[in-house]
Amino acid sequence: MKQLIDKLYHTGRLLPDEFRALLSNRNDELYGYLSEKAREARVRNYGHDVYIRGLIEFTNYCRNDCLYCGIRKSNSSAQRYRLTESQILECCRTGYDLGFRTFVLQGGEDGYYTVEKMTAIIRSIKEEFPDCAVTLSIGERSYEEYKAFYDAGADRYLLRHETADEAHFARLHPDRMSLRNRKKCLYELKQIGFQVGCGFMVGSPFQTVDHIVEDLLFIKELEPHMVGIGPFIPHHATPFAGMEAGTLELTLYLLAVIRLMLPTVLLPATTALGTIDPQGRELGILAGANVVMPNLSPTSVRQKYMLYDNKICTGDEAAECRHCLEKRIESIGCRIAVSRGDHRAYTTSTA
Ligand code: 5AD
Ligand code: FES
Repeated sequence: MKQLIDKLYHTGRLLPDEFRALLSNRNDELYGYLSEKAREARVRNYGHDVYIRGLIEFTNYCRNDCLYCGIRKSNSSAQRYRLTESQILECCRTGYDLGFRTFVLQGGEDGYYTVEKMTAIIRSIKEEFPDCAVTLSIGERSYEEYKAFYDAGADRYLLRHETADEAHFARLHPDRMSLRNRKKCLYELKQIGFQVGCGFMVGSPFQTVDHIVEDLLFIKELEPHMVGIGPFIPHHATPFAGMEAGTLELTLYLLAVIRLMLPTVLLPATTALGTIDPQGRELGILAGANVVMPNLSPTSVRQKYMLYDNKICTGDEAAECRHCLEKRIESIGCRIAVSRGDHRAYTTSTA
């Protein structure tokens, strides 16, 4: 198995059977070796810098009905909210003062935010904070809409593919959604010029090792700039309420594998990882992650953006999260970078 890790480290690739073997034969010793290599790759590319992204959860209305998600349309117990443009800008101001140079606008698939409204929000943010990057995470839209967001100044787009297996995708999503369209969106976003992030949940219901192998192969094929993975965590008001959560162990293992596959990728230690284990995010960074995305949403709405149960940081002020994270990151020998933290292929002197 160590030879496979060495091969992955040197070439960034494994054959499907080799990935399968690497995933099926996990043990502590192997993880020790894998994560050491992953840290080496992270340090070689990004030093000890950890990039922070201010997450603004600006709407929890969603027209979709993903079976795992707490803000799915059918969850009538969710209290819905939308932030106004001026509330969003206020979050950015708080964030800027705390050292954030990337704002991630995340929301459900909410038709209220038309292309006109979204481009106006993007323009206002870029006008007031020209030295900041804007990342969107608002789901599937048309090529024309994506292009309009890009032309308005958005820099990056996060759209997890969720699973690269057609049949598995169908078990996690309602009929009207398809993996095909998801992939189409990701390729279009990339073509338009966005820095693009895909990703999946670890331990989602019905997931097998073979599905994860497909995820890894798809990630390699897409070559995204960012990859978001975190454990699946059940939400009590969804059809998956009684399902088991994904594990810390497998999530860390996969973070390290992804770091070796794409050494320069921007890889967050996600809030979901911090939710299943109090040290989850620190352990994620030690597995090769180099991004954290604390919450900048107003505290009054945080409890309402519940994708899964027991989500952390839903009561804390933005400043508390920023300082808490700083301590956590420094405790493992890293430091928070006050910069846009672009993918290396995009770093320019004008940024
Ligand atoms: N557990 C973990 N992650 C979830 N997401 C949605 N619901 C859950 C859940 N129950 C993830 C999805 C989505 C991202 C915004 O949050 O992967 O793409
Ligand atoms: Fe939010 Fe620690 S990161 S309180």
